[in-house]
Amino acid sequence: MSKKTIFEDRNNDWEIWRKNSSIERSIKRLKKQLPEMEASKQVTKIIKKRYKKGYKILDFGCAAGHFYQSLRRIDNKINYFGFDATKNYINFAKKFFKKNENVKFDVQSLFSMSKKYNKKFDIVFCSNVLHHLPSIDIPLKNLIKASKKYCIIRTLVSDNTHLARFYYNDSMNKKGELNNFQLQNTYSYSLIRKKIKKIGNYKIKFEDDVFDGKKINKEYTKKEIKKYPGLTRFVDGVQIAGSKVFEFKWIIIKIK
Ligand SMILES: C[S@@+](CC[C@H](N)C(=O)[O-])C[C@H]1O[C@@H](n2cnc3c(N)ncnc32)[C@H](O)[C@@H]1O
Repeated sequence: MSKKTIFEDRNNDWEIWRKNSSIERSIKRLKKQLPEMEASKQVTKIIKKRYKKGYKILDFGCAAGHFYQSLRRIDNKINYFGFDATKNYINFAKKFFKKNENVKFDVQSLFSMSKKYNKKFDIVFCSNVLHHLPSIDIPLKNLIKASKKYCIIRTLVSDNTHLARFYYNDSMNKKGELNNFQLQNTYSYSLIRKKIKKIGNYKIKFEDDVFDGKKINKEYTKKEIKKYPGLTRFVDGVQIAGSKVFEFKWIIIKIK
């Protein structure tokens, strides 16, 4: 094959937040410019069922920590830790929550979590991150490594694996490659199970995503779509982002 052949979709720069941190709407939620997320309400219910006073909770891929605003309903003094790979969000979070002694943040990546966090948290959760990553093996390992009792993950799961890229627009880099995309990967139940079982013989449960479609659609305004083209909406009983059906599930892994 000629060396000059260009594969239009071969740009591998998937780190959208590093390129443009305004792509994430967490700060808007903290500033009350956007409402509480449906996923934030559901993870609060899932954790409440398993929570005991004094538990340490880690939100990996927390953005600016907006899920804390829901979790504090469980316990006003809940020990909340937020990790995210994007410095801007963590810097914002540290300032925003500086008066909350029970809330801590650190810049950490799912691909290279510091060993000092091994087995440091009773419950670890990770919402809406894995489907945007090029591989989930190391992230799964680190999430489980950090957890003592439960590891809870919200991501796209279906009968079949479907690895996809959603292009925000047709912009190209100097090489002529389309380069403005987010990954939107769905993994099959069986592949997720297999990947987790490779790490350890844990009990795994899948729970349906529960949400109010009207609330999701309320955020789907012309202004927001212009800024965030991958925004989800609810149509005929299914959630859609761009042109792909999003089948969110909660994966609950019992560690001990
Ligand atoms: C779609 S947002 C989800 C934010 C929040 N968890 C939620 O559900 O609203 C994805 C977040 O994952 C973070 N992220 C991306 N790659 C990461 C990595 N390797 N390790 C940790 N966080 C990462 C991004 O910076 C971003 O804040």
